[in-house]
Amino acid sequence: MPESLSLPRVTASYLCAKKARGEKIAALTAYDYPMARLLDRASIDIALVGDSVGTNVLGYRSEQQVTIEDIVHHTRAVRRGVERAFVLADLPFLSYHSTEAALLSAGRLIQEGGADGVKLEGGTRVLPQTEAMVRAGIPVVGHLGFTPQSHGRDLYAFSGRRGTVARVQGRDAAEAKLLLAEARRLQDAGVFALVLEMVTEEAAQLVSQALEIPTIGIGAGRHCDGQVLIVHDLLGFSSVELRLAKVYARLGEEATKALSIYREEVAGGIFPGEENVFHMEPAAFAQLREQLAAEN
Ligand code: KIV
Repeated sequence: MPESLSLPRVTASYLCAKKARGEKIAALTAYDYPMARLLDRASIDIALVGDSVGTNVLGYRSEQQVTIEDIVHHTRAVRRGVERAFVLADLPFLSYHSTEAALLSAGRLIQEGGADGVKLEGGTRVLPQTEAMVRAGIPVVGHLGFTPQSHGRDLYAFSGRRGTVARVQGRDAAEAKLLLAEARRLQDAGVFALVLEMVTEEAAQLVSQALEIPTIGIGAGRHCDGQVLIVHDLLGFSSVELRLAKVYARLGEEATKALSIYREEVAGGIFPGEENVFHMEPAAFAQLREQLAAEN
């Protein structure tokens, strides 16, 4: 058994205790069974079935195309691959526009998908939904800063700057204070952790120090209580390299190389080789040839 699997199963209270102990949380996206197994073996704390599945795996143009069916399907696969990590499933676009919708969608992710908790984007506008889910006993994670489901809309509202879409949040005092106020409201509504995406390091530090719950940053600097990355970025499957991510392996290049060699070997008759084939017993083959010869 890998060492990681002998560690206790990750829960919301375990993640909060990590913050209290000053230990960082490591989170990654996972969308399928094999990747979930690898994450678990590497003792990653949170396997996030993010709506980034849409652009990274399903070939969608945006996160807005991701449906609750997509997330349930991928959460099931991740659940089957994970024994230790906390399985966190994203509530996709339009699946939590009302309290009823949020409860229904979160219920599906927990009961059908096997998720341990759900994540939703937004601040004040999702407080009623958040409170209702928490009251129903569902562990909930918030998500502030850049919120891909609403593209520029939220950012526009958030920064209050007409005509501009500021991707990075918390760039001045007013933005940082607004972010902090939203973060506090979410904490009061009962979220047990908060994702901060594309936020200045200074603002993210302010929020992380002010909150009791852990913050998990992506493009939010070094002072968050944890980090999350899209696993495809980390493993080098993406065609673009983002400033917020670090490429730890170039598996995309390796895979392309391997696929091209395979094609060349098939074309050249090199694959399959002797080591890849199954033989008849020589005696059985001789008998077959004799029988065929007699029949002709
Ligand atoms: O969908 C996702 O992968 C996310 C992370 C970027 C935090 O929400």
